[in-house]
Amino acid sequence: MYAKLKSIGAYVPDKILTNKDLEKIVDTNDEWITKRTGIKTRHIVEDNEVTSDLAYMAALNALENAEMSAEEIDMIIVATITPDYFAMPSTACIVAQKLGIVRPAVDISAACTGFIYTLAQAKAFIESNMYKNILIIGAETLSKIINWKDRTTCVLFGDGAGAAIISATSNKDEAIIDIDINADGKYSDFLITPGRGVKYGCETNRTWLEMKGNETFKVAVKTLSKSVTDILKRNNLTGENIDWFVPHQANYRIIDAVAKTVQIPKEKCVLTVQKYGNTSSASIPMAINEMVQKGKIKKGDLMLLDAFGGGFTWGSALLPFY
Ligand code: UT7
Repeated sequence: MYAKLKSIGAYVPDKILTNKDLEKIVDTNDEWITKRTGIKTRHIVEDNEVTSDLAYMAALNALENAEMSAEEIDMIIVATITPDYFAMPSTACIVAQKLGIVRPAVDISAACTGFIYTLAQAKAFIESNMYKNILIIGAETLSKIINWKDRTTCVLFGDGAGAAIISATSNKDEAIIDIDINADGKYSDFLITPGRGVKYGCETNRTWLEMKGNETFKVAVKTLSKSVTDILKRNNLTGENIDWFVPHQANYRIIDAVAKTVQIPKEKCVLTVQKYGNTSSASIPMAINEMVQKGKIKKGDLMLLDAFGGGFTWGSALLPFY
């Protein structure tokens, strides 16, 4: 049995925050943000909206696109660093309840690489014949863990959710080809929320996301370039064989640098960072969904995904869209 990407869906909150809006909040400007990151706008939740709300809407969209009912889902995995609750219950449990089903449901914490981690887990569950249809979701309300006084981070992130249904298939042509996931904890303080765990908790007022941006940038480019090069090589493929490069959307300069190392031309690189900013675990499924909706990514197209985030975690994946 193989695992395939059966359908995709996404959801973003209505409210849009532009670079001009941010100029009124912190000492920044549209030119700096655009030049250094490519970001122009990002979507932000209302105060009463939480991660499970976005995850639920993205899940409904993926179910609708698959013409499936929630009852047909065997398991739910949510990747998020902005869960509704610290520790418990998991956001996946809340999503299952909103969908009206009682199924195994679990969150994973792999920051911006979360979607690729859930993809790997779903693939393994299906290939071991444990489940047939797994709903994987990347959902974030990063606006709630951002320090809106810190210009080095608050301009970068946005809120949103993407969902996919990973299903069993006996047709090898439809199958997810390969996934590479990895992590190195020696970089754990490069991208961190120090005051949101039991280590420091109330002892510190550092409850917001903190990032050593420039250092993270350098490791991201180097690590992702190696990950995509390795996954292509071990599958006897080159950048020329790829129809769509769908990278994690953190910074267009990272995307550009990695694409160049495997010689993927600009027209094959999916870029949504300008509209949504960095939505962490949600960015890849949101980007795939957008391209499918536009009629660009079509059935049978070969996609290369990559992602890098806090931990550090990173990964890449090769799969056709089905
Ligand atoms: O998704 C998870 C992984 N995350 C990433 O991969 C993000 C990786 N990092 C990046 O994308 C980039 O490093 C940033 C976009 C965060 C920053 O770009 P940079 O080219 O690395 O800039 P920098 O941090 O070296 O800062 C350059 C200058 C500094 O001023 P000085 O010291 O040169 O006077 C900053 O203080 O830009 C200043 N700066 C800003 N200026 C205007 C930093 N943030 C801002 C801002 N507006 N928002």
